[in-house]
Amino acid sequence: MTKTTKLRSQAWFDNPDNPGMTALYLERYLNYGLTREELQSGKPIIGIAQTGSDLSPCNRPLVELAKRTREGIRDAGGIAIEFPVHPIQETGKRPTAAVDRNLAYLGLVEILYGYPIDGVVLTTGCDKTTPACLMAAATVDLPAIVLTGGPMINGWYEGKRAGSGTVIWKARELLAEGRIDYAEFMAMAAASAPSPGFCNTMGTATTMNSLAEALGMSLPGCAAIPAPHRERAQIAYETGKRAVELVREDLKPSDILTREAFENAIAVCSAIGGSTNAPVHLAAISRHVGVELDIRDWQRIGEEIPLIVNLQPAGEYLAEDYHRAGGVPAVVARLIERGLLHEDAMTVSGRTIGENCRGAKVEDTDVIRTFEDPIQEAAGFRVMAGNLFDSAIMKTSTITDEFRRRYLSNPEDPEAFEGRAIVFDGPEDYHHRIDDPALSIDEHCILFMRGTGPIGYPGGAEVVNMRAPDYLLKRGIHELPCIGDGRQSGTSGSPSILNASPEAAAGGPLALLQTGDRVRVDLRANRVDALLPEGEWQSRRAALEAAGGYPYPASQTPWQEIQRGCVDQLEAGMVLKSAVKYQRIAAK
Ligand code: FES
Ligand code: MG
Repeated sequence: MTKTTKLRSQAWFDNPDNPGMTALYLERYLNYGLTREELQSGKPIIGIAQTGSDLSPCNRPLVELAKRTREGIRDAGGIAIEFPVHPIQETGKRPTAAVDRNLAYLGLVEILYGYPIDGVVLTTGCDKTTPACLMAAATVDLPAIVLTGGPMINGWYEGKRAGSGTVIWKARELLAEGRIDYAEFMAMAAASAPSPGFCNTMGTATTMNSLAEALGMSLPGCAAIPAPHRERAQIAYETGKRAVELVREDLKPSDILTREAFENAIAVCSAIGGSTNAPVHLAAISRHVGVELDIRDWQRIGEEIPLIVNLQPAGEYLAEDYHRAGGVPAVVARLIERGLLHEDAMTVSGRTIGENCRGAKVEDTDVIRTFEDPIQEAAGFRVMAGNLFDSAIMKTSTITDEFRRRYLSNPEDPEAFEGRAIVFDGPEDYHHRIDDPALSIDEHCILFMRGTGPIGYPGGAEVVNMRAPDYLLKRGIHELPCIGDGRQSGTSGSPSILNASPEAAAGGPLALLQTGDRVRVDLRANRVDALLPEGEWQSRRAALEAAGGYPYPASQTPWQEIQRGCVDQLEAGMVLKSAVKYQRIAAK
């Protein structure tokens, strides 16, 4: 297809009405060898938003892959201009990488809006890089396509698959129980990272890249191809080619990121057993593109969908197996067979998701199961509410048999339990006190983590999954119910209730809870309630207000302070509130 409208980049590079500005805009892009003829040829300028670097090992393969993308762009008649995105490394950034998602978003919006770019290849991978890029593409609304760098190959330790994050949670328990030493602990951790790429479990990275594909923003099959495979470089090339065509077809994120696309992503997230960070990030993307999506949509659309992808932490396998079994297209095909997907949703391939994936073959039915033989029935997220928060989510696919036996087997009240609250104010407080015998934690306790939402712990900490104290681990009790206003790593297998909104630091009632309070969790009514008399709430509220509100640590950097002043709650996507009104700005 040929272009029908003037390219956006021509306003910079080829504007005879303003030769002075054109010369200024143009001349510096000549100084590394581009020619005036190229830049004024009417060829689309395709940005490559580079998230990989030495600081971001998960996305580092994209530095090399971008070369194939450039070749694709060139072969399709475009000109590639690569530029850096603010780096985000999930495991390397303190206090948490989540504080950087909105910063990378802001930076990318400025670049895409302010420079001569007609379309963009969004390179993604590590957890927050994918939503940051998609949020920016949604705001700016230039033709955009996702290229992920791909997951690591499978890790192995003592003959068993060792998955990112998951093996570390496991090793941490073994270390606490005294069954391994520090050296073996480190060897187990390292075994899960055998090659370049992002986490090989169904953590937030594989989830968000799968959802980018389910949303229609990447070519089919893109999410799961391991970073070192040849197909990864091949799809990097195809993605570059397609980016140029998207500009010529004027196919933009707003044409793809529709309400139907988000519903498709929720369905896929449920079927793959996706990370609990997904509702936060999808909410953010939807708000920036102007699509209504409510946290309760997750339960309405997803809850009854079975978990069919057998990947750690909920299952057994890892990313290589996911790809070999068929990846996202195979999962989508299963959902289509059941009528659980909007087949007509458009994708960056120029075809609908139904056209892309209908009939896609499952190559290994132990990795991608059938609906008749799932890993778990009804595995989507529950959306909880109650007198401690307005909403929180629970990943039911990680409820283990041990947990079910201990907490959910009362024949009188099979889906509910009560416990004594043990309340921690942030991860440091938890680490200091979890093993303190004075708390006398037993299997009838519920661990609470607060002060860890977007304001309390800038960006929201991934700390709600708390291990039981050493003295319970030694008795064989591994899991206690955990509830909190922070997030949880997507690689954690804990059946926690998390993302509680509003957080304690925003005045949520979690701030009023005290260690020793009785709390009831009812999975039938989807409620969590502290069993406190009304007068007690009021006197605690008055005391908290007299003390100046829920205390949280001071900001350590300027950005932490700026973000705290304008960030929304996890339920609402943790977006910068004042950014949401800026939509489709490339056209303005
Ligand atoms: Fe980067 Fe998991 S730490 S993908
Ligand atoms: Mg994480």
